[in-house]
Amino acid sequence: MKFNIDLNGKEYEVDVPSNLRLSQLLGMVMTRKSVKHNCGTGRCGYCLVLIDNTPIYSCLYPAYRAQGKKIITLEAILQKSEYSNIIKGFELANVDLCPNCAPARILLTYHQLEKNRELTGEMIENIIDTITCDCTDVSSLKEALYLAANFYKGDFD
Ligand code: FES
Ligand code: FES
Repeated sequence: MKFNIDLNGKEYEVDVPSNLRLSQLLGMVMTRKSVKHNCGTGRCGYCLVLIDNTPIYSCLYPAYRAQGKKIITLEAILQKSEYSNIIKGFELANVDLCPNCAPARILLTYHQLEKNRELTGEMIENIIDTITCDCTDVSSLKEALYLAANFYKGDFD
């Protein structure tokens, strides 16, 4: 099936099976390393991307439905100061996320902070609950997200 996809601000034409999931298209066919096709069932969250500015588990999303929509993956923000500010928060909290959950968690944190620079407790819980983490405890994640929000707002240098 042939269609166009708008990925990180660039238009691409792809030709893939109609049953391909968006996570497989982005991660395997288009080699965007930040997108993992892991559980494939909506449990882990490692495949999270933004579709028309809404966080979506892309493993549950048929690739062809991305036609006409704007897809954003972590690669789109890697060069931005917003990305560095989020990373500073994780560093200050001594949280070194592994490649499994890091891309989706950072992208979701960016998305939340773009909507609201004051991360509420509920938003922090949401960022934690939406993406499984097997290596870092919840209180460290909470602290890292709190610090990331402070760097984002410019409260710290
Ligand atoms: S790969 Fe999509 S939720 Fe696990
Ligand atoms: S740091 Fe490894 S899954 Fe979160």
